Amino acid sequence: MKALVVYASQTGNTRKVAEAMARALGCEARAVGELDAAALEAESLFAGGAVYATHDHGLDPALTGFIARLDPRKVGTAYAFSTGFERSDASGLVARALAARGVAVGRERFACKGQLFKLFMRGHPDARDLEAAAAFARRAAGQA
Ligand SMILES: Cc1cc2nc3c(=O)[nH]c(=O)nc-3n(C[C@H](O)[C@H](O)[C@H](O)COP(=O)(O)O)c2cc1C
Repeated sequence: MKALVVYASQTGNTRKVAEAMARALGCEARAVGELDAAALEAESLFAGGAVYATHDHGLDPALTGFIARLDPRKVGTAYAFSTGFERSDASGLVARALAARGVAVGRERFACKGQLFKLFMRGHPDARDLEAAAAFARRAAGQA
C-alpha cells in the first residue's frame, strides 16, 4: 500500500497536520511545489490546504494547480483535509477539486482549526488536533 500526503501551507498549520498524518502512516509528507503531479502514483493520496483572503478566499493556486495536473489513473483514492476556520469548508473545496479532476475521493474528510496570526484559534492545530488527524489517516488508509 503506497500512501502519500501532499499539502500547500502558507503559515505552517496544514504542514503540521500533514506531517502528523505521514508519521501515522509511515509515509512522506511533501509540499505540492516539491512534486511532479503528473507523475505521482499513490494508492492513498491525502491532499490538504486552507483558504486565503489573498486568493479570493479560496485555496492556494499552488494546490489547485497541482490537483489539476494529477493523473487520475495513477491515484487510487484521495482524501481531502484542511485547517482554518470551521466555516471555511476548505476540505470541501479540496475534495471538489480532486473530484473535478476525475480522482476517486474518499467520503470522509478531515478538518481542524488552524491559527491565524496568533489572533484567532491560537495554538491550533494542537496535540489533540494532530492525534485526530493521525487517527483519520490510519482509518482512511485502512490501518486503524
Ligand atoms: C494571509 C491569510 C489570509 C487568510 N484568509 C482567510 C480567509 O479569507 N478566510 C478564512 O476562512 N481563513 C483565512 N485565513 C486563515 C487560514 O485559512 C488558516 O489560518 C489556515 O489554517 C492556514 O493554513 P496554513 O498555516 O497551512 O497556511 C487566512 C490566513 C492567512 C495567513
